[in-house]
Amino acid sequence: MEILARELLRHQHLYHVLARPEISDAEYDRLLDELLRLEKRFPQLASPNSPSRRVGSDLDNAFPERPHTVPVLSLDKLYQPEAVAQWLRKTATACGGAVGFAVEEKIDGASIVLYYDRGELQYALTRGNGLVGNDVSDNVRTVAQVPLRITEPAALAVRGEIYITRRDFERYNAGLPEKYANPRNLAAGTLRNLKSALAARVPLNIFAYEGFFAAGGRDHMEVLARLRDLGFRVNPRLGFFSADGERRRRARALFPEIADGPLEDVEKYLRLQAEGRRALPYDVDGLVLKVTDLDLRQELGYTAHHPRWAMAYKYESPQAASRLLDVQVQVGRNGRVTPVALLEPVALSGSTVTRATLHNQDYIDMLELGIGDQVSISKRGDVIPAVEEVLEKSEQQPAIFKLPGRCPFCRTPLVREGAHHFCRNEECPERRRRALAYFCAREQMDIETLGERTIALLYEKGWVRCIPDIYEFDYGRLQGEEGYKERKIARIRESVEASKSRPFARVLAALGFEGVAGAVVAALIDHGYDDIDKISETAAREGWEEFAAVEGVGEATARLLVEHFRKPRNLETIARLRRAGLRFRAESASRPRLDDSFAGQLWVITGSLERFTPRSLAAEEIRRRGGRVAESVTGRTTHLLAGATPGSKLAKAEKLGVEIVSEDEFLARLGEH
Ligand code: IVH
Repeated sequence: MEILARELLRHQHLYHVLARPEISDAEYDRLLDELLRLEKRFPQLASPNSPSRRVGSDLDNAFPERPHTVPVLSLDKLYQPEAVAQWLRKTATACGGAVGFAVEEKIDGASIVLYYDRGELQYALTRGNGLVGNDVSDNVRTVAQVPLRITEPAALAVRGEIYITRRDFERYNAGLPEKYANPRNLAAGTLRNLKSALAARVPLNIFAYEGFFAAGGRDHMEVLARLRDLGFRVNPRLGFFSADGERRRRARALFPEIADGPLEDVEKYLRLQAEGRRALPYDVDGLVLKVTDLDLRQELGYTAHHPRWAMAYKYESPQAASRLLDVQVQVGRNGRVTPVALLEPVALSGSTVTRATLHNQDYIDMLELGIGDQVSISKRGDVIPAVEEVLEKSEQQPAIFKLPGRCPFCRTPLVREGAHHFCRNEECPERRRRALAYFCAREQMDIETLGERTIALLYEKGWVRCIPDIYEFDYGRLQGEEGYKERKIARIRESVEASKSRPFARVLAALGFEGVAGAVVAALIDHGYDDIDKISETAAREGWEEFAAVEGVGEATARLLVEHFRKPRNLETIARLRRAGLRFRAESASRPRLDDSFAGQLWVITGSLERFTPRSLAAEEIRRRGGRVAESVTGRTTHLLAGATPGSKLAKAEKLGVEIVSEDEFLARLGEH
């Protein structure tokens, strides 16, 4: 098993790091199968760094905190090449002139520290707050470019960046239900994937850029070369600048492809790299300049947060720097918990930003965000503020903000479903208040006089606790409340009354049933669900498949629809609102409902029709007679209207025994209308 493991790891390195395989894929698979067979038979002999670990596991990952044993600092940064050149001169002078600088790409990925002992990868930690990181070893083991074993027996720590190329990002992200905003977030999110078998599917890469050896090597260039020779991927796009020609010669001997020159050349090199960065296959957010002499590094030392021997040259000007003051935990009308960052006010492209959504716990974990941290803020699509990354960890503990275990409004324990946490208490006062506010908001029923403040008052008094109460409450009782004079009360009455004439589509969306917003409502009505009774009858009688037949309604929404319209509480709400005079039936303004001659029928239309172009005109006639129309033929289809050159739908309908109707026959059935 040991021999097989060693052979396999060697071939993985040849394939994934050096791109120089020595054996065919089939031969490789044969060796791996042999090892897997042995590991199954003798599980107690399987090594934690077996090549079989590359495929990950189905077990849930835990990410325990572990202390870093090497300093994991971040870099100070500058934005102008001239400023960087000035820093370079100053630092060279402080070192007495005999100094060399490495210039590396600053890869925009997720920072990782790999700890090895006696040649084995012990664990891999995220940066965390620099003192303590999260153990993400099982996910990191799936990255084929990370050596699981090395020939260096002594203790070793390696810092590097895990990243994904832009191309792989586009391809992989396209298939995800919840998209990542950029390659960096996907890389950081993958390191925190709960199942390492899923992490294994993401084509991650690594570049190693710092090594902490127990002994030997007094220069960074030697360290990089040694890392490379041990099997780590070291970025070959590297520069070395020094006044000393002998140092440059030594650097070239270690890295033949290196760009080198005297210190005066650095500024030009920075500009050139900045220009060429779009052509790289991965995201680079700047360059890192480092003093290479490790003794000089010691002498230069550190500020509270940064090494004095290194500097980042960042390509983009800062989005905006701010500090996370607190996290507000919001609970929506459907119980979904959303953490919101409360930020030190900062001006950013024309407005002052004080808040930004943090989406969910996973997003916070991915950023490794804690209260007090310095953060950078951007505006997505130039509008919505977002926390992009932590610039500077606060040394306060705990390192990462955690959502509370209970709903802050009703103390019900929160439950996690997918990426989000939920308060499942339907009586939760915050959920109730939010449902009322949503119903009254401009986009829904547009009851202008019932703003957040009035709703809060009505709710706290116990006067309006649920949506129908809005129409049943006697607003005269507001008299005497601070700020509610007769005129204001009259205006409230008027706007509540006016809202009764909102069209069915608005009413249905305003009810705020999860998943039943504007687009879904429009799809339902288009499909013939133009009356609330049709929806509740379908929900009561049939399964979700019936709703899923509607173009624009997915399975998840279809299941929710059935759930919503079977709940007695919701049916009661609808009944009360109907009594109050709200509209629960869509009026097709120009083409009124004719009769029920097509009631209970589900039609599909195929081929081209002579007298109905576009085909939707035929669909409309079906609906005006109480029938419904679907896109595809299923077991529930009752009729197929077949025009000229019908497609595969005809064959399917015939197979299922669906009644096939020609255009002439259809015209006849439409009758005298
Ligand atoms: S040096 C003390 N070199 O940039 C040494 N960092 O704040 C500090 N990064 O999150 C790091 N490429 O993950 C260094 N070639 C490189 C880098 C690099 C990317 C990241 C690093 C850290 C941030 C620096």
